[in-house]
Amino acid sequence: MKIGIFGAGHMGGAMIKGWLNSNKVAPEDLLVRGGKRGTAKQLQEDLDFTLTNEITDFSQCEIIFLAVNTPLILPILNDLQKLIGETDIPIVSVSAGVSVTEMSQVMGSDYPLAQAIPNTPVQINEGMTGIVYAENIAENAKELINKCFYFLGDLVEITDDKIGIFGTLAGCGPAFVDVFMEALSDGAVLNGMDRDMAYQVAAKMVSSSANLLLKTGKHPGELKDGVTSPGGTTIKGITALEKEGFRYATINAIDTIMKN
Ligand SMILES: NC(=O)c1ccc[n+]([C@@H]2O[C@H](COP(=O)([O-])OP(=O)(O)OC[C@H]3O[C@@H](n4cnc5c(N)ncnc54)[C@H](OP(=O)(O)O)[C@@H]3O)[C@@H](O)[C@H]2O)c1
Repeated sequence: MKIGIFGAGHMGGAMIKGWLNSNKVAPEDLLVRGGKRGTAKQLQEDLDFTLTNEITDFSQCEIIFLAVNTPLILPILNDLQKLIGETDIPIVSVSAGVSVTEMSQVMGSDYPLAQAIPNTPVQINEGMTGIVYAENIAENAKELINKCFYFLGDLVEITDDKIGIFGTLAGCGPAFVDVFMEALSDGAVLNGMDRDMAYQVAAKMVSSSANLLLKTGKHPGELKDGVTSPGGTTIKGITALEKEGFRYATINAIDTIMKN
C-alpha cells in the first residue's frame, strides 16, 4: 500500500514510526513531503522512506495523510484538488483546527475525506485516534482509512462536535500522565529509590493500572476501593492528594483547555 504523508514532525513522525514498527508498511510504501526546517529529511536518514518535494508524486498514492500545521491544511488541499480532485484517493487531515466540512468545501462534497485526531503513542502502535468521516464517504474508502489507523492502535468514530474534547483528553492527556509519572518518581527518589528504577516502576504501574481498568471493565472507583484498606496507607496517600485538590486540578486542566 502506498501511503502519502505531508509533514513528518511530532505527529507525522510518530505515525511513520508506528507504521514501520507495525511491519505492515515498508519504508518504500511511504512517500513523505516535509517543509523548510528539515525535520522530514532528518527522520528519513534514520527510517529510509521516500522523501519528495514534488506534489505530483502523490498522485501514485492509495491514501494521503496531512500532518502539517493547521494553517497549511487548506492551501495543500487546494493543490491536491488540482492534482487528484477527479480521483477517489482518500485524504485524511490530523489537524484539530480544520473540519471535514471545510475540507469538503475545497475537495467537493463527494470526495472521500476524514479528520482524525491521533495521539503520540501511535509511534508504538498503542495510539488512541478519534475520527470524523465526510458524510458521503464510500465504504471502501472508510475501510482503507481504518486499516491505516488500526496499524497504529485503537480507533473510535466521533462526531464533529466532540473533536475538541477528544483531542484534549487523548492528545493532551499523555503530557498530564508524563507529569504525574515524573512527580511519582520524584517522591520515590526523595525516599531513596534510584531514579531509573523509579521511572520504570512508575511507568509500569500506570500502564498496568490502565490495562486492569480496560480488561476488567470495572469502574475506576471500584478498582481504587480494592487497594484502600480501612485505616491503611493507600487511603492516607489519597487523602493527602485530595487535600491538595488533585481531582479538581485534573478536572480543571481539561476544562481550562476547552475554554481556551
Ligand atoms: N503533536 C501532537 O500531539 C498532535 C496530536 C494530534 C494532531 N496533531 C496535528 O498534527 C499537525 C502537525 O503537528 P505537529 O505537532 O506534528 O507539528 P510539527 O512538529 O511542527 O510538524 C509539522 C510538519 O509539517 C512539515 N511541513 C511544513 N510545511 C510543509 C509543507 N508545505 N509541505 C509538507 N510538509 C510541511 C514540517 O516540516 P519541516 O519541519 O521540515 O519544516 C514538519 O515536518 C497539526 O495540524 C496538529 O494539530 C498533533
